[in-house]
Amino acid sequence: TGRFTFDPGFTSTASCESALTYIDGDEGVLLHRGYPIGQLAEHSSFMEVSHLLLNGELPSKEELERFTYTITRHTMLHEQLAQFYRGFRRDAHPMAVMCGVVGALSAFYHDSTDITDPHQRMIASHRLIAKMPTIAAMAYKYSVGQPFVYPDNTLSYTGNFLRMTFGVPAEEYVVNPIVERALDRIFILHADHEQNASTSTVRLAGSSGANPFACIAAGIACLWGPAHGGANEAALNMLREIGTVDRIPEYIARAKDKDDPFRLMGFGHRVYKNYDPRATVMQQTVREVLGELGVSDPVFDVALQLEEMALSDDYFIEKKLFPNVDFYSGVILSAIGFPTTMFTVLFALARTVGWVAQWNEMIADPQQKIGRPRQLYTGPTQRDYVSIEQR
Ligand code: CMC
Repeated sequence: TGRFTFDPGFTSTASCESALTYIDGDEGVLLHRGYPIGQLAEHSSFMEVSHLLLNGELPSKEELERFTYTITRHTMLHEQLAQFYRGFRRDAHPMAVMCGVVGALSAFYHDSTDITDPHQRMIASHRLIAKMPTIAAMAYKYSVGQPFVYPDNTLSYTGNFLRMTFGVPAEEYVVNPIVERALDRIFILHADHEQNASTSTVRLAGSSGANPFACIAAGIACLWGPAHGGANEAALNMLREIGTVDRIPEYIARAKDKDDPFRLMGFGHRVYKNYDPRATVMQQTVREVLGELGVSDPVFDVALQLEEMALSDDYFIEKKLFPNVDFYSGVILSAIGFPTTMFTVLFALARTVGWVAQWNEMIADPQQKIGRPRQLYTGPTQRDYVSIEQR
Protein backbone atom coordinates (compact mmCIF):
# COMPACT_ATOMS: atom_id res chain seq x y z
CA THR A 1 0.00 0.00 0.00
CA GLY A 2 3.01 2.27 -0.10
CA ARG A 3 2.64 5.52 1.79
CA PHE A 4 -0.74 4.96 3.40
CA THR A 5 -2.10 2.53 5.93
CA PHE A 6 -5.29 0.93 4.66
CA ASP A 7 -7.81 0.59 7.48
CA PRO A 8 -11.40 0.26 6.19
CA GLY A 9 -13.90 1.02 8.97
CA PHE A 10 -11.01 2.47 11.06
CA THR A 11 -10.80 -0.67 13.18
CA SER A 12 -7.25 0.08 14.24
CA THR A 13 -6.82 3.81 13.75
CA ALA A 14 -6.96 6.37 16.57
CA SER A 15 -8.18 9.58 14.96
CA CYS A 16 -7.53 11.86 17.93
CA GLU A 17 -6.49 12.18 21.56
CA SER A 18 -9.35 12.63 24.03
CA ALA A 19 -9.73 12.90 27.80
CA LEU A 20 -13.48 12.32 27.84
CA THR A 21 -14.32 8.66 27.59
CA TYR A 22 -12.41 5.42 28.09
CA ILE A 23 -13.63 2.07 26.72
CA ASP A 24 -12.08 -1.35 27.25
CA GLY A 25 -14.13 -3.51 24.91
CA ASP A 26 -12.65 -6.81 26.11
CA GLU A 27 -13.47 -6.12 29.74
CA GLY A 28 -16.79 -4.34 29.15
CA VAL A 29 -15.55 -1.11 30.78
CA LEU A 30 -16.89 2.37 30.00
CA LEU A 31 -15.63 5.38 31.97
CA HIS A 32 -16.51 9.06 31.58
CA ARG A 33 -13.58 11.17 32.82
CA GLY A 34 -12.71 8.15 34.96
CA TYR A 35 -16.15 7.42 36.44
CA PRO A 36 -17.72 4.01 35.61
CA ILE A 37 -20.96 4.26 33.63
CA GLY A 38 -22.77 1.97 36.08
CA GLN A 39 -22.07 4.38 38.98
CA LEU A 40 -23.10 7.40 36.96
CA ALA A 41 -26.33 5.70 35.82
CA GLU A 42 -27.15 4.72 39.40
CA HIS A 43 -26.27 7.87 41.35
CA SER A 44 -25.93 10.78 38.96
CA SER A 45 -28.26 12.84 36.76
CA PHE A 46 -28.03 13.77 33.11
CA MET A 47 -27.26 17.40 34.01
CA GLU A 48 -24.38 16.28 36.24
CA VAL A 49 -23.00 14.00 33.54
CA SER A 50 -23.31 16.82 31.00
CA HIS A 51 -21.29 19.09 33.29
CA LEU A 52 -18.75 16.31 33.76
CA LEU A 53 -18.29 15.74 30.03
CA LEU A 54 -18.25 19.40 29.08
CA ASN A 55 -16.21 20.82 31.97
CA GLY A 56 -14.11 17.89 33.13
CA GLU A 57 -15.40 17.40 36.70
CA LEU A 58 -18.57 16.45 38.52
CA PRO A 59 -20.11 19.74 39.69
CA SER A 60 -20.38 20.93 43.31
CA LYS A 61 -23.93 21.75 44.43
CA GLU A 62 -23.49 25.42 43.46
CA GLU A 63 -21.86 24.55 40.15
CA LEU A 64 -24.73 22.22 39.30
CA GLU A 65 -27.28 24.91 40.13
CA ARG A 66 -25.43 27.42 37.97
CA PHE A 67 -25.03 24.95 35.10
CA THR A 68 -28.71 23.94 35.24
CA TYR A 69 -29.69 27.62 35.32
CA THR A 70 -27.51 28.32 32.27
CA ILE A 71 -29.03 25.43 30.35
CA THR A 72 -32.63 26.29 31.26
CA ARG A 73 -32.08 29.92 30.15
CA HIS A 74 -31.61 28.61 26.61
CA THR A 75 -34.49 26.13 26.37
CA MET A 76 -36.75 28.31 24.21
CA LEU A 77 -36.49 28.26 20.43
CA HIS A 78 -36.61 31.34 18.23
CA GLU A 79 -40.31 31.69 17.40
CA GLN A 80 -39.56 31.83 13.69
CA LEU A 81 -38.38 28.22 13.91
CA ALA A 82 -41.97 27.13 14.54
CA GLN A 83 -42.67 28.29 10.97
CA PHE A 84 -39.74 26.23 9.79
CA TYR A 85 -41.45 23.04 11.05
CA ARG A 86 -44.55 23.83 9.01
CA GLY A 87 -42.51 23.35 5.83
CA PHE A 88 -42.22 19.62 6.56
CA ARG A 89 -44.78 16.97 5.70
CA ARG A 90 -46.64 15.73 8.78
CA ASP A 91 -45.46 12.18 8.10
CA ALA A 92 -41.77 13.16 7.79
CA HIS A 93 -39.49 10.98 9.92
CA PRO A 94 -38.61 13.05 13.02
CA MET A 95 -34.91 12.40 12.35
CA ALA A 96 -35.31 14.15 8.98
CA VAL A 97 -36.87 17.08 10.83
CA MET A 98 -34.03 17.05 13.39
CA CYS A 99 -31.36 17.21 10.65
CA GLY A 100 -33.12 20.20 9.12
CA VAL A 101 -34.02 22.17 12.23
CA VAL A 102 -30.70 21.71 14.02
CA GLY A 103 -28.83 22.61 10.82
CA ALA A 104 -30.98 25.75 10.61
CA LEU A 105 -29.98 26.94 14.10
CA SER A 106 -26.86 28.58 12.66
CA ALA A 107 -29.20 30.84 10.66
CA PHE A 108 -30.90 31.94 13.89
CA TYR A 109 -28.10 32.28 16.43
CA HIS A 110 -25.43 34.29 14.62
CA ASP A 111 -23.92 35.45 17.89
CA SER A 112 -22.54 31.96 18.67
CA THR A 113 -21.05 30.81 15.38
CA ASP A 114 -17.57 32.38 15.66
CA ILE A 115 -15.62 29.31 16.67
CA THR A 116 -12.42 31.23 17.37
CA ASP A 117 -14.08 32.78 20.43
CA PRO A 118 -14.19 30.36 23.43
CA HIS A 119 -17.12 32.29 24.94
CA GLN A 120 -19.20 31.87 21.79
CA ARG A 121 -18.25 28.21 21.63
CA MET A 122 -19.59 27.71 25.15
CA ILE A 123 -22.82 29.58 24.41
CA ALA A 124 -23.36 27.45 21.30
CA SER A 125 -22.75 24.31 23.37
CA HIS A 126 -25.22 25.37 26.06
CA ARG A 127 -27.76 26.31 23.41
CA LEU A 128 -27.49 22.94 21.71
CA ILE A 129 -27.88 20.97 24.96
CA ALA A 130 -30.77 23.20 26.05
CA LYS A 131 -32.68 23.34 22.78
CA MET A 132 -32.48 19.70 21.73
CA PRO A 133 -35.38 18.62 24.00
CA THR A 134 -37.50 21.51 22.72
CA ILE A 135 -36.64 20.72 19.09
CA ALA A 136 -37.26 16.99 19.58
CA ALA A 137 -40.59 17.50 21.37
CA MET A 138 -41.72 19.91 18.65
CA ALA A 139 -40.85 17.33 15.98
CA TYR A 140 -43.12 14.89 17.80
CA LYS A 141 -45.94 17.40 18.32
CA TYR A 142 -45.83 18.36 14.67
CA SER A 143 -46.14 14.72 13.59
CA VAL A 144 -49.22 14.10 15.76
CA GLY A 145 -50.87 17.42 14.96
CA GLN A 146 -50.84 18.80 18.52
CA PRO A 147 -49.81 22.34 19.49
CA PHE A 148 -46.20 22.95 20.48
CA VAL A 149 -45.73 23.09 24.25
CA TYR A 150 -43.29 25.74 25.49
CA PRO A 151 -40.60 24.77 28.01
CA ASP A 152 -41.30 25.05 31.75
CA ASN A 153 -38.04 25.83 33.49
CA THR A 154 -39.34 24.89 36.93
CA LEU A 155 -39.06 21.25 35.83
CA SER A 156 -35.92 19.13 35.49
CA TYR A 157 -34.24 18.81 32.09
CA THR A 158 -35.90 15.43 31.55
CA GLY A 159 -39.22 16.31 33.22
CA ASN A 160 -39.47 19.36 30.99
CA PHE A 161 -38.87 17.21 27.91
CA LEU A 162 -41.60 14.76 28.99
CA ARG A 163 -44.06 17.62 29.47
CA MET A 164 -43.22 19.23 26.13
CA THR A 165 -43.72 15.83 24.45
CA PHE A 166 -46.80 14.46 26.20
CA GLY A 167 -48.44 17.54 27.72
CA VAL A 168 -51.35 19.36 26.06
CA PRO A 169 -52.66 22.84 26.89
CA ALA A 170 -56.07 21.41 27.81
CA GLU A 171 -54.88 19.74 31.00
CA GLU A 172 -52.14 19.86 33.58
CA TYR A 173 -49.28 17.44 32.91
CA VAL A 174 -47.86 15.76 35.99
CA VAL A 175 -44.39 14.29 35.54
CA ASN A 176 -44.18 10.67 36.73
CA PRO A 177 -40.94 10.48 38.76
CA ILE A 178 -40.29 6.84 37.78
CA VAL A 179 -40.55 7.65 34.10
CA GLU A 180 -38.45 10.80 34.61
CA ARG A 181 -35.71 8.83 36.35
CA ALA A 182 -35.74 6.03 33.76
CA LEU A 183 -35.50 8.46 30.86
CA ASP A 184 -32.79 10.48 32.59
CA ARG A 185 -30.84 7.23 32.98
CA ILE A 186 -31.28 6.43 29.27
CA PHE A 187 -29.89 9.88 28.52
CA ILE A 188 -26.88 9.23 30.78
CA LEU A 189 -26.22 5.88 29.06
CA HIS A 190 -26.20 7.56 25.63
CA ALA A 191 -24.32 10.74 26.54
CA ASP A 192 -20.95 9.87 25.00
CA HIS A 193 -19.14 6.88 23.53
CA GLU A 194 -15.71 8.02 22.31
CA GLN A 195 -15.05 7.97 18.55
CA ASN A 196 -18.22 6.26 17.27
CA ALA A 197 -19.39 7.08 13.72
CA SER A 198 -21.50 10.15 14.55
CA THR A 199 -18.95 11.65 16.95
CA SER A 200 -16.21 11.14 14.37
CA THR A 201 -18.51 12.84 11.87
CA VAL A 202 -18.98 15.84 14.18
CA ARG A 203 -15.21 16.08 14.65
CA LEU A 204 -14.50 15.77 10.93
CA ALA A 205 -17.14 18.38 10.04
CA GLY A 206 -15.81 20.66 12.80
CA SER A 207 -12.19 20.22 11.72
CA SER A 208 -12.85 22.45 8.71
CA GLY A 209 -14.00 25.26 11.00
CA ALA A 210 -17.71 24.75 10.26
CA ASN A 211 -20.08 26.24 12.85
CA PRO A 212 -21.20 23.97 15.72
CA PHE A 213 -24.87 23.82 14.72
CA ALA A 214 -23.94 22.54 11.26
CA CYS A 215 -21.53 20.01 12.82
CA ILE A 216 -24.17 18.60 15.17
CA ALA A 217 -26.63 18.35 12.25
CA ALA A 218 -23.99 16.24 10.48
CA GLY A 219 -23.76 14.03 13.58
CA ILE A 220 -27.54 13.61 13.64
CA ALA A 221 -27.51 12.52 9.98
CA CYS A 222 -24.88 9.88 10.71
CA LEU A 223 -26.63 8.67 13.86
CA TRP A 224 -29.81 7.99 11.90
CA GLY A 225 -28.41 4.84 10.23
CA PRO A 226 -29.64 1.43 11.49
CA ALA A 227 -26.09 0.24 12.18
CA HIS A 228 -25.72 3.14 14.67
CA GLY A 229 -28.44 5.14 16.44
CA GLY A 230 -31.22 3.77 14.26
CA ALA A 231 -30.66 0.36 15.88
CA ASN A 232 -33.02 1.06 18.81
CA GLU A 233 -35.91 1.66 16.43
CA ALA A 234 -34.90 -1.34 14.30
CA ALA A 235 -34.53 -3.55 17.39
CA LEU A 236 -38.04 -2.86 18.68
CA ASN A 237 -39.53 -3.27 15.20
CA MET A 238 -37.73 -6.61 14.97
CA LEU A 239 -38.99 -7.77 18.41
CA ARG A 240 -42.55 -6.82 17.44
CA GLU A 241 -42.18 -8.65 14.12
CA ILE A 242 -41.00 -11.78 15.92
CA GLY A 243 -44.04 -11.31 18.15
CA THR A 244 -44.05 -14.61 20.02
CA VAL A 245 -41.36 -16.67 21.70
CA ASP A 246 -41.92 -19.71 19.46
CA ARG A 247 -40.78 -17.74 16.39
CA ILE A 248 -37.37 -16.83 17.84
CA PRO A 249 -35.45 -19.86 16.42
CA GLU A 250 -36.51 -18.87 12.90
CA TYR A 251 -34.98 -15.40 13.34
CA ILE A 252 -31.82 -16.74 14.94
CA ALA A 253 -31.41 -19.08 11.97
CA ARG A 254 -31.83 -16.13 9.59
CA ALA A 255 -29.23 -14.08 11.47
CA LYS A 256 -26.75 -16.96 11.09
CA ASP A 257 -27.46 -17.52 7.40
CA LYS A 258 -24.64 -16.04 5.29
CA ASP A 259 -26.99 -15.60 2.32
CA ASP A 260 -29.55 -13.65 4.33
CA PRO A 261 -28.63 -10.00 5.05
CA PHE A 262 -30.80 -10.07 8.21
CA ARG A 263 -28.99 -9.26 11.47
CA LEU A 264 -30.27 -9.37 15.01
CA MET A 265 -30.72 -5.68 15.68
CA GLY A 266 -29.44 -4.58 19.08
CA PHE A 267 -26.77 -7.28 18.95
CA GLY A 268 -23.06 -6.87 18.37
CA HIS A 269 -20.72 -3.96 18.78
CA ARG A 270 -17.56 -2.80 17.10
CA VAL A 271 -15.74 -2.32 20.39
CA TYR A 272 -17.46 -4.45 23.05
CA LYS A 273 -16.51 -8.08 22.61
CA ASN A 274 -17.45 -9.26 26.09
CA TYR A 275 -20.57 -7.33 27.08
CA ASP A 276 -21.88 -3.81 26.78
CA PRO A 277 -21.96 -2.34 30.32
CA ARG A 278 -24.76 -0.02 29.24
CA ALA A 279 -26.93 -3.01 28.28
CA THR A 280 -26.63 -4.38 31.82
CA VAL A 281 -28.03 -1.15 33.32
CA MET A 282 -30.70 -1.04 30.63
CA GLN A 283 -31.88 -4.56 31.34
CA GLN A 284 -32.39 -3.71 35.05
CA THR A 285 -34.16 -0.46 34.18
CA VAL A 286 -36.60 -2.16 31.84
CA ARG A 287 -37.76 -4.46 34.64
CA GLU A 288 -38.22 -1.51 37.02
CA VAL A 289 -40.13 0.59 34.51
CA LEU A 290 -42.46 -2.15 33.30
CA GLY A 291 -43.03 -3.27 36.90
CA GLU A 292 -43.72 0.16 38.31
CA LEU A 293 -45.85 1.34 35.42
CA GLY A 294 -47.77 -1.92 35.49
CA VAL A 295 -47.18 -2.39 31.77
CA SER A 296 -46.94 -5.97 30.56
CA ASP A 297 -45.50 -6.04 27.08
CA PRO A 298 -45.05 -9.42 25.34
CA VAL A 299 -42.15 -7.85 23.48
CA PHE A 300 -40.15 -7.92 26.72
CA ASP A 301 -40.58 -11.72 27.00
CA VAL A 302 -39.44 -12.05 23.39
CA ALA A 303 -36.39 -9.86 24.19
CA LEU A 304 -35.42 -11.89 27.27
CA GLN A 305 -35.84 -15.21 25.48
CA LEU A 306 -34.02 -14.03 22.37
CA GLU A 307 -31.10 -12.84 24.47
CA GLU A 308 -30.92 -16.16 26.30
CA MET A 309 -31.09 -18.25 23.13
CA ALA A 310 -28.58 -16.13 21.21
CA LEU A 311 -26.11 -16.13 24.09
CA SER A 312 -26.08 -19.92 24.18
CA ASP A 313 -25.72 -20.28 20.40
CA ASP A 314 -22.26 -21.12 18.97
CA TYR A 315 -22.51 -18.53 16.17
CA PHE A 316 -23.03 -15.66 18.62
CA ILE A 317 -20.48 -17.03 21.09
CA GLU A 318 -17.77 -17.40 18.43
CA LYS A 319 -18.40 -13.97 16.93
CA LYS A 320 -18.63 -12.41 20.40
CA LEU A 321 -22.04 -10.89 19.74
CA PHE A 322 -23.84 -9.59 22.84
CA PRO A 323 -26.88 -7.36 23.33
CA ASN A 324 -25.88 -3.71 23.09
CA VAL A 325 -27.42 -0.64 24.77
CA ASP A 326 -30.16 -0.48 22.18
CA PHE A 327 -31.50 -3.97 22.61
CA TYR A 328 -33.58 -2.98 25.65
CA SER A 329 -33.89 0.79 25.37
CA GLY A 330 -36.75 0.50 22.85
CA VAL A 331 -38.83 -1.62 25.24
CA ILE A 332 -38.59 1.11 27.90
CA LEU A 333 -39.23 3.98 25.50
CA SER A 334 -42.24 2.18 24.11
CA ALA A 335 -43.62 1.57 27.64
CA ILE A 336 -43.23 5.31 28.35
CA GLY A 337 -45.30 6.05 25.24
CA PHE A 338 -42.79 7.14 22.61
CA PRO A 339 -43.47 5.93 19.05
CA THR A 340 -40.55 4.00 17.52
CA THR A 341 -39.73 6.85 15.13
CA MET A 342 -38.78 8.98 18.16
CA PHE A 343 -36.24 6.50 19.57
CA THR A 344 -33.27 7.69 17.54
CA VAL A 345 -34.29 11.29 18.23
CA LEU A 346 -33.89 10.60 21.96
CA PHE A 347 -30.48 9.11 21.30
CA ALA A 348 -29.53 12.27 19.37
CA LEU A 349 -30.78 14.46 22.21
CA ALA A 350 -28.56 12.67 24.74
CA ARG A 351 -25.54 12.28 22.46
CA THR A 352 -25.55 16.03 21.76
CA VAL A 353 -23.69 16.43 25.06
CA GLY A 354 -20.92 14.10 23.91
CA TRP A 355 -20.80 15.73 20.49
CA VAL A 356 -20.41 19.26 21.82
CA ALA A 357 -17.91 18.18 24.48
CA GLN A 358 -15.81 16.39 21.83
CA TRP A 359 -16.12 19.32 19.44
CA ASN A 360 -14.96 21.76 22.13
CA GLU A 361 -12.05 19.52 23.05
CA MET A 362 -10.98 19.38 19.41
CA ILE A 363 -11.27 23.11 18.69
CA ALA A 364 -9.36 24.00 21.87
CA ASP A 365 -6.48 21.68 20.88
CA PRO A 366 -3.61 23.78 19.47
CA GLN A 367 -2.50 20.80 17.33
CA GLN A 368 -5.91 20.52 15.65
CA LYS A 369 -5.85 20.21 11.85
CA ILE A 370 -8.47 19.63 9.20
CA GLY A 371 -9.29 15.90 8.97
CA ARG A 372 -8.26 14.69 5.56
CA PRO A 373 -7.95 10.90 5.10
CA ARG A 374 -6.21 9.54 2.01
CA GLN A 375 -7.33 6.62 -0.17
CA LEU A 376 -6.00 3.75 -2.23
CA TYR A 377 -6.92 4.55 -5.82
CA THR A 378 -8.46 1.60 -7.73
CA GLY A 379 -9.65 3.31 -10.94
CA PRO A 380 -8.10 3.33 -14.46
CA THR A 381 -4.57 4.62 -15.03
CA GLN A 382 -4.11 7.78 -17.11
CA ARG A 383 -5.78 7.66 -20.57
CA ASP A 384 -6.60 10.14 -23.34
CA TYR A 385 -9.92 11.84 -23.86
CA VAL A 386 -12.00 10.26 -26.66
CA SER A 387 -14.50 12.42 -28.57
CA ILE A 388 -18.16 11.42 -28.18
CA GLU A 389 -18.44 10.26 -31.83
CA GLN A 390 -15.69 7.73 -31.27
CA ARG A 391 -17.04 6.18 -27.99
N1 CMC B 1 -26.54 -10.39 13.86
C1 CMC B 1 -25.94 -11.39 13.19
N2 CMC B 1 -24.65 -11.40 12.83
C2 CMC B 1 -23.91 -10.32 13.17
C3 CMC B 1 -24.44 -9.23 13.88
C4 CMC B 1 -25.81 -9.30 14.23
N3 CMC B 1 -26.38 -8.29 14.90
N4 CMC B 1 -23.50 -8.31 14.08
C5 CMC B 1 -22.37 -8.79 13.51
N5 CMC B 1 -22.63 -10.02 12.96
C6 CMC B 1 -21.64 -10.87 12.28
C7 CMC B 1 -21.33 -10.34 10.90
O1 CMC B 1 -22.17 -10.94 9.93
C8 CMC B 1 -19.90 -10.74 10.72
O2 CMC B 1 -19.85 -12.08 10.36
P1 CMC B 1 -18.62 -12.63 9.40
O3 CMC B 1 -17.38 -12.38 10.17
O4 CMC B 1 -18.96 -14.07 9.22
O5 CMC B 1 -18.71 -11.80 8.16
C9 CMC B 1 -19.30 -10.60 12.12
O6 CMC B 1 -20.43 -10.78 13.02
C10 CMC B 1 -18.64 -9.28 12.41
O7 CMC B 1 -19.54 -8.23 12.04
P2 CMC B 1 -19.08 -6.86 11.39
O8 CMC B 1 -20.26 -6.25 10.71
O9 CMC B 1 -17.83 -7.06 10.60
O10 CMC B 1 -18.73 -6.05 12.72
P3 CMC B 1 -18.68 -4.48 12.88
O11 CMC B 1 -17.82 -4.22 14.04
O12 CMC B 1 -18.32 -3.85 11.58
O13 CMC B 1 -20.20 -4.10 13.18
C11 CMC B 1 -22.22 -3.51 14.28
C12 CMC B 1 -20.71 -3.75 14.42
C13 CMC B 1 -22.79 -2.93 15.56
C14 CMC B 1 -22.48 -2.51 13.13
C15 CMC B 1 -22.93 -4.87 13.94
O14 CMC B 1 -22.71 -5.76 15.01
C16 CMC B 1 -24.41 -4.73 13.64
O15 CMC B 1 -24.77 -4.44 12.50
N6 CMC B 1 -25.31 -4.90 14.67
C17 CMC B 1 -26.71 -4.69 14.51
C18 CMC B 1 -27.01 -3.20 14.57
C19 CMC B 1 -26.89 -2.64 15.97
O16 CMC B 1 -27.40 -3.19 16.93
N7 CMC B 1 -26.23 -1.46 16.09
C20 CMC B 1 -26.12 -0.73 17.35
C21 CMC B 1 -24.74 -0.63 17.87
S1 CMC B 1 -24.66 0.01 19.55
C22 CMC B 1 -25.33 1.59 19.47
C23 CMC B 1 -24.61 2.50 18.55
O17 CMC B 1 -23.39 2.50 18.49
O18 CMC B 1 -25.27 3.31 17.89
